[in-house]
Amino acid sequence: MEFYRTKDNENMADIAAQIFQRQLEQKLDSVLGLATGTTPIGLYDRLILLNKKGILDFSKVRTVNLDEYRGLTPEHEQSYRYFMNSHLFDHINIKKENTNVPDALKEAEVACREYDELIEKLGGVDLQLLGIGVNGHIGFDEPDTVFPKGTQCVKLAQATIDANARLFNDKSEVPEYAITMGIRTIMMAKQIVLLANQSKKEIVEQAFYGDITPQVPASVLQMHQNVTVILSGE
Ligand code: F6R
Repeated sequence: MEFYRTKDNENMADIAAQIFQRQLEQKLDSVLGLATGTTPIGLYDRLILLNKKGILDFSKVRTVNLDEYRGLTPEHEQSYRYFMNSHLFDHINIKKENTNVPDALKEAEVACREYDELIEKLGGVDLQLLGIGVNGHIGFDEPDTVFPKGTQCVKLAQATIDANARLFNDKSEVPEYAITMGIRTIMMAKQIVLLANQSKKEIVEQAFYGDITPQVPASVLQMHQNVTVILSGE
């Protein structure tokens, strides 16, 4: 594991952007696993800039997002499809048909199975971006008694609903369920980069220097061969 402590969020985004740049230089048609949330926004801004400058080409890139709220349409402003379009996809030369977010409107079992099949068909994820929840979740894989395997429909933990309520008009609007990539799929990514700001310092320390336990889902990453953690000082 490589562990960076950066002085601020800008510096964190710079290092993450370099990792993405290196990945695309090595493989133009990379499969990128992407995350939503506040933490990766600085990275996405840099990827847009690098694309506009002609340094990064996304024309052959395929993407799979970690998760989506159950029941939200792609047009809903809090859906993760909307987030990805507005923070990244609408501003780079990626083909929309090459971007994938779990289908939150389909019957859950079908949506989960199809998402796993899709990732397999793409040949797996080359570089997976992760954030971390206040309770140690990655994707929406919440603390549990076992590490979940494939894509699954989950009931969000109260801590996650509380944390994400800031983005909705009212806490009651936060969906209770989501579809998320499972831990096995995340662990099969060839490379992983996890970003966390200072407010996640304690849970990051627990996840990467504590016991490996499904109670702290991110702790499973200690067993991955190629993971970079970037913890910002802000
Ligand atoms: C989002 C996701 C989540 C977030 C995590 C941190 O796609 O998978 O695990 O990465 O909840 O969110 P922020 O960055 O908003 O603190």
